[in-house]
Amino acid sequence: TGSTLLIVWAVIGYLLGSIPFGLLLTRAMNLGNLREIGSGNIGATNVLRTGSKGAAAATLLLDGGKGALAALLARYLTGEDAAQLAGVMAFFGHCYPVWLKFKGGKGVATFLGLLLALAWPVGVACCLTWLVAAALKRMSSFAAITAAALSSIWAFVLGRPDAFLLCVILTLMIYWRHRDNIARIKAGTEPRIGQK
Ligand code: G3P
Repeated sequence: TGSTLLIVWAVIGYLLGSIPFGLLLTRAMNLGNLREIGSGNIGATNVLRTGSKGAAAATLLLDGGKGALAALLARYLTGEDAAQLAGVMAFFGHCYPVWLKFKGGKGVATFLGLLLALAWPVGVACCLTWLVAAALKRMSSFAAITAAALSSIWAFVLGRPDAFLLCVILTLMIYWRHRDNIARIKAGTEPRIGQK
């Protein structure tokens, strides 16, 4: 793959990822200022704190969908290297969108979406891990860091070494983006799912 083409996919991935669906939806639906609600984050978990399950579900699907779309477009039009790069850059765009002065989200939905697109068995395993962890602790952040931490192990166990490095990189980024949540989990002050 030519390096110019890879740069193009990196930019497309970043731009797709940087669309802040949570903010756009909550504004369009007059659900209040997401930045002043709960954690102030732009993701589905915080959209749920507005009280709208529909907006939260739509945010989850759209934030996941943009990661999947970036990876799939790049895969079908260029190839596997381009797909991984576009996926990572969509994640990066979600976390650091130029439109929000680089203050974006935590990347969990986008991570799951791009994993489902790039290596679906690993994506399915991570979604299930998220659900089990969420059922056990009722904390979205705990479920996210658990699913991320296990993602590279799932890649290995499920025979998808092609997704291993991707999972390692994104896990590190997810931990970094959840550093405030991790401090709250340790302090015992992290809210349960649906709680303000
Ligand atoms: O996907 C983000 C989630 O893991 C935590 O969101 O709003 O509780 O910080 P929040």
